[in-house]
Formats: sequence, structure tokens, C-alpha cells
Amino acid sequence: MHSPLPMDDGMFQHWQEMLEERIGITIPAERRSFLVTSLDQRMSEVGCHSYGEYMRLLEDGPHGAVEWELLVDHLTVHETRFYRDSAALQLLEDQFFRFIGRGDESRTNIDVWSVGCATGEEPYSLAIALDDYLLNHELENYFSVTATDISRASLATARQGIYHRNRLRNLPVKLLRRYFLPYDLDHYRLSRTIRDRVCFTLMNLVDVGDASLGKMDIIFCQNVLIYFKRERRAEIANSLVEHLRPGGLLILGAGELVKWRHERLVQIPNEDVVAFRRLPDEERAA
Ligand SMILES: C[S@@+](CC[C@H](N)C(=O)[O-])C[C@H]1O[C@@H](n2cnc3c(N)ncnc32)[C@H](O)[C@@H]1O
Repeated sequence: MHSPLPMDDGMFQHWQEMLEERIGITIPAERRSFLVTSLDQRMSEVGCHSYGEYMRLLEDGPHGAVEWELLVDHLTVHETRFYRDSAALQLLEDQFFRFIGRGDESRTNIDVWSVGCATGEEPYSLAIALDDYLLNHELENYFSVTATDISRASLATARQGIYHRNRLRNLPVKLLRRYFLPYDLDHYRLSRTIRDRVCFTLMNLVDVGDASLGKMDIIFCQNVLIYFKRERRAEIANSLVEHLRPGGLLILGAGELVKWRHERLVQIPNEDVVAFRRLPDEERAA
């Protein structure tokens, strides 16, 4: 039976440093066997027999760059589904959708960002929730969702908009009927109306400070910060705040960023959702 190559402490540390430096992700000691198995899988696929040989492949110019992407895909989990966090969607309705059209009438566009969007279920859920609200309330605002991820393969799947029914289990039936058509026995295809509202872009969160995305009304960042060290998580969240319009909402995953505060944000009290609202530019949090 095939068993993965052993990895001593020095080699583990070397991989940790390389992954941290190159893609920003952290592999803590307790996930060492996960790293070993993922590397083993990828090394078997490309026919490498030692860590040294695989590292040389990763450093091999354009081939190396492609290989990095494939490795990242093995090292990150793309687990997600439609309406995964329905409490957060409810909070968006209560704290944002309800105020659409009541404030600054000169701006009708609503901009949403799904950070670490994986195969698209999260950004499409946001688009569906918003579209459904606007239709039900006869509002004519335009909205667009920007969806970013480090995994090119996930983004390609996302763009197709075809999903196994298991991924749709949490979606209310009325929304399934309104926005999906059966594709084959087990799959559904999302309507073009919603697909056209979501723009998928490759982006490593490490580079979020340089991102040339505009200002957002809603930023959804769940189950992504877990890949980063604590200090780095706070830095990333601080950069996300720079992309938020006054009055805009930042939604994080529960427990992903503990005791983090920002002078431009107030936390929205909610038992199930970690959400913040950006203050007007002239105000600071107490
Ligand atoms: C578990 S999925 C979360 C999907 C979705 N946000 C949700 O909560 O259902 C984590 C996603 O984060 C992405 N990711 C991990 N590290 C990243 C990085 N440095 N930059 C951008 N995306 C990253 C992975 O590729 C993966 O698709």
C-alpha cells in the first residue's frame, strides 16, 4: 500500500514558511498530516518522488506558477452551499435591504462583494436574496456582486452556474423555482438574470490592500479568514473596511476574528451573525 513520504520538523517548517510567504495561508502544527496527504496526492499526480523535486517544480517559471494554483486548490477547502448562513441573509434584509431607496436617492446602484466565494454558492445566494427583495418590493435599483477567490478552478465552476441538488438544500423552494431550471437528473442551472449580475475574479486576499475594486455596500467574508494567522486576519479585515461605503455592512464568519474592533465600524448586535456597519466619514466609534 502506498504511504506518503515522511516529513520531518525541518521540512514541515520549510513548507509552512513557503506557503505563508507565497500565498499567505497558515498550516498550523495540528494540520501537518493534512499537508502531508495533500502534497502526496499532488506529487503522485505530477510524478514527483521527493519534496525537493516537487519544490523545484514549483519554482519552475510559468509551470511553477500554474502548479502553485493547483496546489492551493488541494490545500484549501471549497465546502459551501446556497443559503449556508440564512441568519446573515436575514440580517442583510433587516439592516440593509429595508432601507433601499430611503436614503441617498442620487445613487441607485448596490454593490456587493463576496470574499472567498469558492464555487459561487455564496455570491449567487446574495444576488438571489437581493433580486428577490427588489422584485417583491417593486424597487428598480441595479445591483452587482463581485466574487473573488484564489482558486481558478472554483471560479470556473462558479461561472457555469450548474449545481448538484445537494448544494441547494437550504434554498427556499420558492427561490429554487424562481431562479433555477433543471439541468439533468441531479443538477440545476441558475438563471441567466442572476448569473449576469455576478462577476467572478481571481484574487488572493493577501493582496486585498492593492485591490482596485470600488466601494461596496455589503462585504461578505465568511470561512476564509481561517486560513490566515491571527494578526494577518485583522490586517485583512482592516483592508476590507477601506472598501466599505459609509452605512455599508461587513459580515464575517462567527469566531473567525475574535475581539477585533475598528474605529470606523459599529457592531450590529446579533446573536448569530458577526456584522458591522461603517460609520459616516466624520464619525468614529466610541
Ligand atoms: C470554505 S470556502 C468558503 C466559501 C464561502 N465563503 C462560504 O462561506 O460558503 C473557502 C474559500 O476561501 C478561498 N481562499 C483560501 N485562501 C484564500 C486566499 N488567500 N485568497 C482568496 N481566497 C482564498 C478558498 O479557495 C475557498 O474557495
